Amino acid sequence: MRVLVSGGAGYIGSHTVLALVAAGHDVVVVDDFSNAKPTVVGRLEALTGRHIPVHAFDLTDIDKTEHLFATDTIDAVIHFAGYKAVGESVQKPLDYYQNNLGSTFSLVRAMQRHDVDKLVFSSSATVYGTDQAGATEDRPTFATNPYGWTKVMQEQILRDIAVADPDMRIALLRYFNPVGAHPSGTIGEDPSDVPNNLMPYIAQVAVGRREKLQVFGDDYDTPDGTGVRDYIHVEDLAAGHVAALEKLAVTDEPISTWNLGSGRGTSVLELLRAFEKAVGRELPYEVVGRRAGDVATSYADPSKANAELGWSTQKTVEEMCADTWRWQSQNPDGYPD
Ligand code: UFG
Repeated sequence: MRVLVSGGAGYIGSHTVLALVAAGHDVVVVDDFSNAKPTVVGRLEALTGRHIPVHAFDLTDIDKTEHLFATDTIDAVIHFAGYKAVGESVQKPLDYYQNNLGSTFSLVRAMQRHDVDKLVFSSSATVYGTDQAGATEDRPTFATNPYGWTKVMQEQILRDIAVADPDMRIALLRYFNPVGAHPSGTIGEDPSDVPNNLMPYIAQVAVGRREKLQVFGDDYDTPDGTGVRDYIHVEDLAAGHVAALEKLAVTDEPISTWNLGSGRGTSVLELLRAFEKAVGRELPYEVVGRRAGDVATSYADPSKANAELGWSTQKTVEEMCADTWRWQSQNPDGYPD
């Protein structure tokens, strides 16, 4: 298939580009580079030995999106592009609704006009709201912040589209906590600001860019009191997208939902210890108060994806830490400008 990857220069998008090429697909990237560096593209080309066509524009631009579909051949779309910072979404809700919903409207309209029927959508465990422990796909969805609501709403919009147009084949992929990096150390997560998420924060402490990790609360109802999450190696996540895409080519279901996670929980302190092992020294941290809006425990029930996609996570927390550390130590300041 020739696959349009929106947000293909971003963290998960770039790893998925590699997985698609490795599986024999062609890719076209669209990215506005609002949260990605253009230098990632050269690295993808070095790893694949292929030219990666990239269109640099904002998908909320209906005319540019239409022009892309009118002038290129596209068999399927994987839609990663979107704003994703929970805290920022509380400050700038209108930006989040406008960008995340607007890009989906523009993309799906262009797909319909040009008879592109396969769409894989980046959703999140955030759609389980405060009910994220052992989550199965049939749980009711809701959110606790504007970012989360954009995912809940986009899922609902896509379900309505699948009812109206049963020829569509749509996958809603609910990711748990993606971490890790390509084993080459040349592709990885490069937050543009202070990292919001645990793994990139620990990695920046390890490389000397941050003084110490702040552990947000050790009084949760979990084995060591710190938050428990289902970390998934970004390469396993990327493989899940390829599996979902290939399933869309054969399924009769207009829309399907799959959790992408390992089913196992790891606490903040367990992840810190695993990262220290990868680095070979202790890392400084302090326990501070809880972060507003955090749940104690989040992990997937991945059995539906395991059974229906023939997919499961392969990589351990140790590998996630080793690969993140290779990326961070080889690129202490992230991608060059
Ligand atoms: N944590 C810290 N210190 C930090 C950062 C995080 O202790 O500096 C803790 C959090 O309190 C939490 C755990 O580490 O217990 C993981 O936090 P992350 O921010 O890495 O991940 P979240 O599970 O909070 O958020 C992720 C995605 C969101 C998504 C959510 C789904 O980043 O986009 O999962 O519930 F909405």
